[in-house]
Amino acid sequence: MSGVASAPEIEEIKVRALRELDAIEQVGGLDEWRVTFLGRRSELTQVLRGVSSLPPDDRRSVGGAANRAKGLLEQSLAEREQALNEAGLSTALDSEAIDVTLPGWPASSGGLHPTTRTLREICEIFASMGFQVMEGPEVEWDRYNFEMLNIPKHHPARDMFNSFWIDYTDEDGEHPMVLRTHTSPMQARVMEKTRPPVRVVVPGKSFRYEATDPTHEWHFFQIEGLAVDKGITFADMKGTLFELARRLFGQERQIRFRCDYFPFVEPGVDMSIDCFACNGNGCRICGRTGWIEIMGAGMVHPNVLEAVGYDSSIYTGFACGMGVERIAMLKHGIEDIRLFYSNDLRFLRQF
Ligand code: DAH
Repeated sequence: MSGVASAPEIEEIKVRALRELDAIEQVGGLDEWRVTFLGRRSELTQVLRGVSSLPPDDRRSVGGAANRAKGLLEQSLAEREQALNEAGLSTALDSEAIDVTLPGWPASSGGLHPTTRTLREICEIFASMGFQVMEGPEVEWDRYNFEMLNIPKHHPARDMFNSFWIDYTDEDGEHPMVLRTHTSPMQARVMEKTRPPVRVVVPGKSFRYEATDPTHEWHFFQIEGLAVDKGITFADMKGTLFELARRLFGQERQIRFRCDYFPFVEPGVDMSIDCFACNGNGCRICGRTGWIEIMGAGMVHPNVLEAVGYDSSIYTGFACGMGVERIAMLKHGIEDIRLFYSNDLRFLRQF
C-alpha cells in the first residue's frame, strides 16, 4: 500500500481484521494476527505513517478513521484474548474435574487379638477385686525363674519345665538365664520389692522348649495371681478363684480343687470348673469327665516367702497361674492353640 488510503479502505481493513480475529480459536494464534494487523508493517500502520503527506483536508478524516480503527482492533484483540483464556480454563476444569461424589475405599479397622481380649478380661476381673496388674521380663535369671520359687539347681522338679536356656555361661559353668518358663518369677520380684499386703496379677508371655500340637505352643501367655498378707487362708483363695471362674464362664459354674504338685506352693492344687458345654454330664470338650482344668494354684510355700525375706510365721498367701490361650480356647470353642499364632485373618476376624 502506498501509505495513502481513504476512509472506505480503512473500513475494509477493519472488517477483514475483525473477521479473522473472530476465526482464531487458540490464544497462540493471536500474536500472528497482531503482527499482521497492528504491527509495524501492517496496512493500518502504513496508513497512519502516510497521513502527514495527505492534502490538509483529508488528514483529519483519514487520520481519525485510522486511529479509531487501530483503537478498536487493539481493544478487540484484548477482548478476544480474555475470552479465549476463559474458554480454555473452563475446558480444562471440565476435563480435569475430580468427581468428589464417588464413594471412597472404606478404611479397614483392626481389632484386638483374642489372646489380648481374654487377657484383659481376666486382669479386669482381678482388678475389680483389688489386684494390681504388673509385668515382668521375658528373659529371666535362673534365680527368679527357679531358685527363689523353691526349685534348686539340679533339682528334679526342673523337669516340669522344658526350658530355653540363654547361651551365656557364668564362672561356675552354669547357664543362669532362661526365657521364663512361666510368669511365677514375678512373685519373687514383686515380694522382694514390697512389703505385704501384696495383691498382684502378672500377665505375660512364657516359653517352653516343646513340640507344638493342638494344645501346646512353644510360646504362650500366662496370668499369675498372688495375694500375701497376715491371715490369708485357703478359703480366701477359693473365694477369689470361684468368683473368677463364674465371671469368666457363667454364674452357675461350680469349681473343684484336686491335689497337685508345684514346687512353689503347699498345698498345691489344680482347679477345674464343671463343664459349661454339658453342665458336668460329660462330653467331648471335657473328655467325658464333666470337669475342665483351668489353672494351677496353692498356698505360697514358706520357702518362697523366706527367700524374699518375709516371715512365714506371720505372713501367708495364695498364688495361681493360668494359660490365657487355654481359657480363650474354652470360651470360644477353639480347637487348636496354633491358630493364635498363625496370623490367619480368617481366624482373627471372628473375634
Ligand atoms: N507356674 C505354673 C506353671 O506354669 C502354674 C502355677 C501353678 C502357678 C500353681 C502358680 C501356682 O502360681 O500356684 O505350670
